[in-house]
Amino acid sequence: MAGPELVTERLLLRRWRPADREPFAAMNADPRVMEHFPAPLSRAESDELVDSIEAGFERQGFGLWAVELRDGAEFVGFAGLAVPSFEAHFTPAVEVGWRLARPAWGNGYATEAGRAALEFGFGPRELAEVVSFTSVGNRRSRAVMERLGMSHDPGEDFDHPRIEPGDPLRRHVLYRISAP
Ligand SMILES: CC(C)(COP(=O)(O)OP(=O)(O)OC[C@H]1O[C@@H](n2cnc3c(N)ncnc32)[C@H](O)[C@@H]1OP(=O)(O)O)[C@@H](O)C(=O)NCCC(=O)NCCS
Repeated sequence: MAGPELVTERLLLRRWRPADREPFAAMNADPRVMEHFPAPLSRAESDELVDSIEAGFERQGFGLWAVELRDGAEFVGFAGLAVPSFEAHFTPAVEVGWRLARPAWGNGYATEAGRAALEFGFGPRELAEVVSFTSVGNRRSRAVMERLGMSHDPGEDFDHPRIEPGDPLRRHVLYRISAP
């Protein structure tokens, strides 16, 4: 299954190209971008992530698209839909997510891409609901969820099963949005 490209006012959400791998590895090695994850990624880990995202597109026809600025064709990160691979009280589910290179923050790109991903999920994919989650302290990502109209019930906060007990990143918030 190929999966479509999504076009917004300023962004192109497309399948990954070999040339994306280097700037993607650079952003995954940036401690500021990876502040709310257990560790920055090595080049090999970053490349494996691209491989697994691309395998997901082939399998299910959606995924975390490579995000490119339409003005200049610069690769700035990823955004889109994914299926969490761990079990929690809200799985199985489809999540909306984003990760942008530091210089691209502060322009509304994550919100613009997230909105396009939700429209795709609720439109052609006919999903009934989409979730999003992040560690409690990830204020910027939570702000994107809130700008997208997602809602948070503190009673649904959860401990991420892939993060060690005692790690301050373990506690996660869950946001949900239903099909319009
Ligand atoms: C999470 C992340 C994508 C958020 O990026 P962001 O740039 O803060 O979010 P948006 O793209 O929605 O941009 C919103 C900001 O752009 C500003 N902005 C400027 N022009 C704008 C426009 N035309 N439209 C909307 N917002 C605009 C907003 O005022 C807001 O600024 P603020 O941060 O001062 O409040 C980014 O911080 C990131 O990649 N973090 C690391 C990875 C990560 O943690 N991912 C989530 C894990 S679950």
